Amino acid sequence: MPEIRRTTDADRGALVEIYRRAFPDEDLVPLLHQLLDEGGGVVSLAAVADGAVAGHVVFTPCTIEGSEPVAWLLGPLAVAPLQQRRGIGGALIREGISRARQDGAVTVVVLGDPGYYARFGFEREDAIAPPYELPPEWDGAWQSITFDRPAEPVRGGLVVPEVWQPRELWLP
Ligand SMILES: CC(C)(COP(=O)(O)OP(=O)(O)OC[C@H]1O[C@@H](n2cnc3c(N)ncnc32)[C@H](O)[C@@H]1OP(=O)(O)O)[C@@H](O)C(=O)NCCC(=O)NCCS
Repeated sequence: MPEIRRTTDADRGALVEIYRRAFPDEDLVPLLHQLLDEGGGVVSLAAVADGAVAGHVVFTPCTIEGSEPVAWLLGPLAVAPLQQRRGIGGALIREGISRARQDGAVTVVVLGDPGYYARFGFEREDAIAPPYELPPEWDGAWQSITFDRPAEPVRGGLVVPEVWQPRELWLP
């Protein structure tokens, strides 16, 4: 299994390469830099396999409008194409979920392919609203994993920090 650790500034070049290769049709590099510039405000994890950084994920702690709890937003997630299908993406997700739980977050939310995220226990999320109304064709893509189900479900809009506010990060 890969070693999972916090990223450092020395990883930036390797991370840029991974995002360029994993997302050939989408430029996530500006978002990557902005998230890395947030420093301790986000949890940025690298997976190291065969001595090199092979994958990366960011978790951004957010709040939920009208209530106290913290939700961690998962994304982006990328694994170098030559290292995919070896469990690296899964290892990054599981490590982040475990850190979110230890940190006292009530849930981890993600906008992504349910075919992938369901493997890790994510389910459709209807009570916490994403910052923008998503198009109908993305039905089921807004998901969450909730740790200790409260008697009353946590409800409200997800309040994201500035880095996650641009509309184009959420809509096609
Ligand atoms: C999605 C991604 C992070 C998965 O990383 P990974 O290290 O290959 O993931 P894992 O090894 O843990 O899991 C691989 C399994 O997930 C499956 N999988 C990958 N993407 C999937 C998807 N969108 N829907 C369903 N299954 C998917 C693979 O087919 C593989 O299945 P198998 O184990 O039955 O062969 C990686 O493919 C990637 O970087 N893709 C391009 C960028 C991207 O789409 N990021 C996610 C943005 S939300």
